[in-house]
Amino acid sequence: MLRTDTPVTVYRKDYTPPAFTIDHVDLRFELDPRRTIVTSTLRFKRTQAAVPLVLAGQELELLAVTLEGEPFEGFQQDDETLTLPGLSTEGTLQIVTACKPDANTSLSGLYVSNGNFFTQCEAEGFRKITYFLDRPDVMTTFRVTLQADRAAYPVLLSNGNLVAERDLGDGRHEAVWEDPFKKPAYLFALVAGKLERIEETITSASGKEKLLQVWVEAQDLGKTRHAMDSLIHSIRWDEQRFGLELDLDRFMIVAVGDFNMGAMENKGLNIFNTKYVLANAETATDADFANIESVVGHEYFHNWTGNRVTCRDWFQLSLKEGLTVFRDQEFSADMMGDESGRAVKRIEDVRVLRQVQFPEDAGPMAHPVRPDSYEEINNFYTVTVYEKGAEVVRMYQTLLGREGFRKGMDLYFERHDGQAVTCDDFRAAMADANGRDLAQFGRWYSQAGTPVVDVRTAWDAQAGSLTLTLTQQCPKVGIETRPGTPDKLPFHIPFALGLVGADGHDLPLQLAGESQPGGTTRVLDFTEAEQTFLFVNLPKGARAPLPSLLRNFSAPVIVDVEYTDAELTFLLAHDSDAFNRWEAGQRLATRALLKLVADVQEERELTLDPALIQAFRAVLVDRTLSPAFREQALMLPAEAYLAERMGVADPAAIHRARQFMREALAHALQADLLAEYEANATPGDYSPDAISSGKRALRNLALGYLADSGSAQMQALAGEQYQQANNMTDRFAALAALVNSFAPGREAALADFYRRFENDALVVDKWFALQGMQRGSVGPHGGKRTIDTVRALMQHPAFNLRNPNRARSLIFSFCSGNPAQFHAEDGSGYEFWADQVLALDSINPQVAARLARVMDRWQKYALPLRERMHAALQRVAAAPSLSRDVREIVGKALAA
Ligand code: TRP
Ligand code: ZN
Repeated sequence: MLRTDTPVTVYRKDYTPPAFTIDHVDLRFELDPRRTIVTSTLRFKRTQAAVPLVLAGQELELLAVTLEGEPFEGFQQDDETLTLPGLSTEGTLQIVTACKPDANTSLSGLYVSNGNFFTQCEAEGFRKITYFLDRPDVMTTFRVTLQADRAAYPVLLSNGNLVAERDLGDGRHEAVWEDPFKKPAYLFALVAGKLERIEETITSASGKEKLLQVWVEAQDLGKTRHAMDSLIHSIRWDEQRFGLELDLDRFMIVAVGDFNMGAMENKGLNIFNTKYVLANAETATDADFANIESVVGHEYFHNWTGNRVTCRDWFQLSLKEGLTVFRDQEFSADMMGDESGRAVKRIEDVRVLRQVQFPEDAGPMAHPVRPDSYEEINNFYTVTVYEKGAEVVRMYQTLLGREGFRKGMDLYFERHDGQAVTCDDFRAAMADANGRDLAQFGRWYSQAGTPVVDVRTAWDAQAGSLTLTLTQQCPKVGIETRPGTPDKLPFHIPFALGLVGADGHDLPLQLAGESQPGGTTRVLDFTEAEQTFLFVNLPKGARAPLPSLLRNFSAPVIVDVEYTDAELTFLLAHDSDAFNRWEAGQRLATRALLKLVADVQEERELTLDPALIQAFRAVLVDRTLSPAFREQALMLPAEAYLAERMGVADPAAIHRARQFMREALAHALQADLLAEYEANATPGDYSPDAISSGKRALRNLALGYLADSGSAQMQALAGEQYQQANNMTDRFAALAALVNSFAPGREAALADFYRRFENDALVVDKWFALQGMQRGSVGPHGGKRTIDTVRALMQHPAFNLRNPNRARSLIFSFCSGNPAQFHAEDGSGYEFWADQVLALDSINPQVAARLARVMDRWQKYALPLRERMHAALQRVAAAPSLSRDVREIVGKALAA
């Protein structure tokens, strides 16, 4: 493993085009878990005079180098490169190396999982397989020969088309795969082992036959239907929405139990974490079904946005990731069916953005959507690059309209198919296809931080006109605060708004200077530090229309506005924009919660405003609203979100305040909650469709509140649901309600759950995760800390630090999903965190670095927490040998 004490920073400004291209590569693998021999024959071309060829390689044993069939001796080698000087303008080079798949615990490069071979090459894993120009702007055609023992590895897969198979005698066999499309090395993949498949043939829009396969271990074949359906829906959606067809004759998805991320878009051979493939009613929740659909879509959509057009360098990562996340979000929204479903999807996405990306953008790892520098690229697969990147793409669509956006996409492919390009190229295609100047819009790519938009209104009752003044601010964050970084300039913010009249209906919008009103939602081009908009021709009178701001969350900004509780209640009841109805409820709840937090801190008595209860009751019982929407509206803001909204975060007080509100709502609304619980049953066979899953969501939200009221009867109801459920959504929700309300039956239910599902790894993950996230109890003999349960569970026979899903299920759930317990005042959570970061770092630096990020916001916490977090960070930083991955994270946290 690569370990370094002196971090090397890579800068975007230092980009230079490659001095060599590789037109074609022939790879032969003699697969053996202990020692795999890779023979790479590459056809190179020199594009610059008198430069050596510098190939990247790591942890490789070099066996031979030949040029035009003759031994080549003048090379130099170090830990990360193989340098070949004096090559002519073109030629054929052969390099033979060996690697050790079964010793590869980093899950990057070629590795073994449960006896089968898999690869993961993004971002820089290919260099652990063979020496190569491992950079995305070197695009090559690949021909791959796989040789392996037939009994142990009956299935041999790689990118593209299967062109030959033969027996090699002595129990070995061979398969040859050819990918007709040029691709960068990060999209290479192979899979070999004992796998089985379901398959289907479909006809594409232009009438070509396509073979679709989902490959899994034999015992999982019965859990593949949903992934296959999701793939077929994705293919159809991309044809219809973007006119993009599958370009290969064959498209494969393979599931693997050991995987660092969600899934990977290797050309024609997507490799997936089992979590995003395997599902049936008994073992997967509605959320799992939805995630599978979205991740299958995401990887499939990469075939065009990422593979056919790829990134010039890794600073451009959001070119493919932001765009592809936007595409998968739109796909999932379209699959929801109606407008209300679309709004629910939007709410879920914005919740993630605020809860995870906003903090990132305010902390030591803050970076623009297109970063300017990195130490380890794997640390930049972030919510900023992905989710904020998707918001940036969404803003093009908001500014240009759906049709304008489609024109931009068409031009992007017309110009760049088969190329490795930049975020600026994408922006240019959007601008040129629509004749729009998007120069200022480019600042979304170069400036980090979340802009704060301040809103002021002035109502002229006599004239019937409303003056809206918007100001924007975005102070420097993260590495922007280092000396010498340029000052930040205003963003181009598409600011969607409506004006709601006294009767709750939208008013027609007419700006001063316009001859007539146009529409009831307008997207304002907000481009200055301060800008004024004058709306005229509104109904005159004392009561000002109420602005509905940033409809559908039209830009990734924070809107500061002084609504009264009454105004928020009115918007919650009437806004025609479903997202903003939800938003009004969240603002109400957030305000009340932050007041309760202060009350906890000052040891005042806690009470809940009856008006707030009434506002929530009104939404709960409003059956004109979809159950899915009502569930979203009644879900209180997360503890992590509340922490971010405080100047100094106090996780214990936040937890007490939020729990108080839950219990108070549960008591006040018990009858209505119970009525909705009954009304939203989903009898009959399980189906994960949007309507049924929405009903289950509301029903289970009600159950959670009811159990939290502490009523024995309600907890019995949870116990009954746990026993009788015919699907995992209901069973797991009931289990969670029992566990988090300290119901008498909780231990028995946890034991029962484990016994039922102990042979299903993904369900056992849920079992660990629930316990990592459980509340600490305060019993008659003092409190029981979750950390003790977590430490005990680390000794459970089913726990395994090497499996990322399992490590995430227990350790990450506790460290990032359980703020009140993790931030225990005695520092026990931080000690545990440091222990696990160090333990993981020697196994898998990528996973360790993710865990390390939990401490990013250490400076935001109250004393003594802040000091203890700092000490834990220092302990990790001082460890004798750290990966580049973890070093960058703790280094930046400590420098902040
Ligand atoms: N490109 C993959 C995706 O979005 C991300 C990915 C999968 C990845 N595995 C990885 C990134 C390993 C870094 C390392 O969709
Ligand atoms: Zn992706």
